[in-house]
This record gives sequence, C-alpha cells and structure tokens, in this order.
Amino acid sequence: MEKEDLPLFAEWFNKPEVFGEYNPLHQMSRIEAEKMLENPLELKPFILEKKDGSKIGFVAHFYVLHTAGRQLEIGYSLVPSERGKGYCSEAVKIMVDYLFLSKETMRIQAQTDPRNVASQKVLEKVGFKKEGTLRKNFFMRGEWRDAYVYSILREEWQQPRILTKTVESE
Ligand SMILES: CC(C)(COP(=O)(O)OP(=O)(O)OC[C@H]1O[C@@H](n2cnc3c(N)ncnc32)[C@H](O)[C@@H]1OP(=O)(O)O)[C@@H](O)C(=O)NCCC(=O)NCCS
Repeated sequence: MEKEDLPLFAEWFNKPEVFGEYNPLHQMSRIEAEKMLENPLELKPFILEKKDGSKIGFVAHFYVLHTAGRQLEIGYSLVPSERGKGYCSEAVKIMVDYLFLSKETMRIQAQTDPRNVASQKVLEKVGFKKEGTLRKNFFMRGEWRDAYVYSILREEWQQPRILTKTVESE
C-alpha cells in the first residue's frame, strides 16, 4: 500500500459492506491510516490491484502478541462486486510466499468466524489447516462470537507457489 492509497483504504475500513458481516465494525480516520502506514509493527496492508489498474481490496499482515514472541497473522477483504472470482485465494498465496520468503517465521495464522465459509475456503485452498476454535472470543454486533484459528507452517508451504524471486528481508 502506498500513501496515495490511504483515502481509499480509510474509505473501505469505514464501510461495513467491505469488511462483511463477520468482522467488527471499524472506524479509521485518514490520520490514523497515515500513522498505520508509518509504523511497520501495525497492520501492513497490500492493495489488490487488477491488471486494468482497479483496486479491489487488500490482504494485510500483522503481529499478535504471544508469550514466546510475536506471531504473524493475516486478514483480507474484497469489495463485494469482486468476490467469488478467485482473487483472494491468489492474493493469500502471494502473501504466504512473501512472508515465508522474507520473515523468519515458522507459522502464519488467520482467524475466521465459523460462519464465514468463503474465508475458510480461501485458507484451505492455500493450504492452511484448522487448529481449533477460540470459544466466545470477542463481543461483536450484540453477541459473543467464536473464532476458528487456521495456520500454515513453513514445512507445509515448502516452496513458493506464485512468487519466484527471493524477496529481500525487511
Ligand atoms: C472472504 C473473502 C475475502 C473471499 O474472497 P474471494 O475473492 O471471494 O475468495 P475466492 O473467490 O478466492 O474463494 C472463495 C470461495 O468461497 C466460496 N464461497 C463464497 N461465498 C460462499 C458462501 N457464502 N458459502 C459457501 N462458499 C462460498 C466460493 O465459491 C469460493 O470457493 P471455490 O473456489 O471452491 O468456488 C470475501 O468474501 C470478503 O471480502 N468477505 C468480507 C470480508 C471477510 O469476511 N474477510 C475475511 C475475514 S476472516
């Protein structure tokens, strides 16, 4: 994501239909979006751009705290009109290649609402495995919601599926 994408990203962040029915309702000002871009420890979004230049969503990575350090997690959203065309599966494959090529991480994880079948299909198509359920993990839109935890390990990934060049470490 480049600075020029910030207004669009902030717009998506504030639109409930882009984040879908299984994500919390977000609010993000442009200034908060700028701060996020400046801080590499925060959410790092990559914009999904089609060959015709149109921007259709994002896939992001971020760190979650863990007693033994930090775990890498990913999240993603597409504008409603571009869903169901395989774009997110392709984008997550690229993100997994990128993270295993550029970071010394053993695993990448993702969380999804048990009812979010499209998201689970994306993860399974890319090779993520379901680890379990975080029961009543967070309170959202009037109810306590469970979350499925998925992960892919470096040894399951084995080699890049789309990216071919070695990416320089950050
Ligand atoms: C989840 C999301 C990113 C998937 O993106 P996408 O580009 O549509 O995903 P893909 O096209 O690569 O694959 C989706 C798969 O789920 C299937 N699918 C989509 N909606 C479905 C539904 N309601 N029930 C069952 N399967 C569904 C598609 O058919 C496809 O499977 P297939 O390849 O076997 O045909 C998109 O739906 C989205 O932006 N949702 C709102 C935000 C969100 O929920 N983000 C994830 C939070 S964990």
